[in-house]
Amino acid sequence: MALASPFAEVPQAPPDPILGITEAYLADPNPGKVNLGVGVYLDETGKVPILKCVAEAQRRWIGREDSKGYLPIDGVKTFNRHVQRLILGPESPAIADGRAVTVQSLGGTGALRVGAELLKRFLPGRTVWVSTPSWENHRALFEAAGHTVNQYPYYDPRSHDLDFAEMAGRIGQLPEQSVVLLHACCHNPSGVDPTHEQWLKLCDIVRDRGLIPFFDFAYQGLGDGLDEDAFAVRAFVEAGIPCLIANSFSKSFSVYRERVGGLTVVTASRDEAGRVLSQLKRVVRASVSNPPSFGAQVVATVLDDPELATMWRDELTAMRHRIRKMRSLFVKTLRDQGVSQDFGFIERQKGMFSFLGLPVEAVRRLRAEFSVYAVDSSRICVAAMNEGNVERVCEAIKAVAP
Ligand code: LMR
Repeated sequence: MALASPFAEVPQAPPDPILGITEAYLADPNPGKVNLGVGVYLDETGKVPILKCVAEAQRRWIGREDSKGYLPIDGVKTFNRHVQRLILGPESPAIADGRAVTVQSLGGTGALRVGAELLKRFLPGRTVWVSTPSWENHRALFEAAGHTVNQYPYYDPRSHDLDFAEMAGRIGQLPEQSVVLLHACCHNPSGVDPTHEQWLKLCDIVRDRGLIPFFDFAYQGLGDGLDEDAFAVRAFVEAGIPCLIANSFSKSFSVYRERVGGLTVVTASRDEAGRVLSQLKRVVRASVSNPPSFGAQVVATVLDDPELATMWRDELTAMRHRIRKMRSLFVKTLRDQGVSQDFGFIERQKGMFSFLGLPVEAVRRLRAEFSVYAVDSSRICVAAMNEGNVERVCEAIKAVAP
């Protein structure tokens, strides 16, 4: 007689709202299919590029690597140092004072999770507040770490813009020591960021209310530039607000599958930083033990070499400019095709994403009838468009737009 399986009652989980779209796309036999679902930069030929600086750094690192022993729990030291310089700025007093600590992580998601675990252990009972809407995985990730997740207003679908008054009003009323998840730049999914002036107002509010900012910084360099995109993080750190910053190199180095990121915690003193680092290491040890080496070594090799670092900045700039160009071309093509709805707002937004503002039925028709894949919320990845597929995408949108 067969043994009763302990998994007999396990229910079927729904597909992931973002990565599930890629699964459906991959299963679609239509050769003209287009995946605007997942947030991945594709080049003009529709491929995820291997950057030249990355290819060269890989060669150098493979030639240099002399051991396959474990990394330290907190990862590659040179990598962590470069993370701090990139996100906080090389002249940051937080670095000079030893107030910032960084652990290498499995991409930005891994960094968020390590931070979530730290907060759960040492600041239990704080609610985590995320924007409405936010990256689909934020809620799941913080809930999985045992947090209650709530939402503050952010995007106004009527104006296709930030509702700053509502956002600031709500954040200004949160209970002290609540955790506020902020998208440092290139808001995912809306592409709408606060202005510098608005960030400075938020900075005052967060400081006055004693809130804990947790920045998701996954798109540095894909909005306005490496330093420009770090404005919010640096403003908060300069204002002396302790904070957490989850950064990712998936997009900026186009190394998605290598899972390269970091969690940086900016504290009030060197002594505090040391204690926080010791606890971050316990979190990492209890989850993945210690991080993988390759991707972080490649990123560190690039950032440590002035020539490769310049090459990377140029390649990143080219990706950013191509996204901008696609935003304009997309809006123009929709107009040229006589789509009555005005999509001009897409040109004003930043980073990889924008909302089409279509109802879910229309998004499903895009998939089923035209093999054009977007997230149910109507989020599209503009960085997956190119001159060869934009016409097709616009024709499909024209056909389903109400
Ligand atoms: C996205 O939002 O599409 C990316 O951040 C990829 C992911 O893991 O969801």
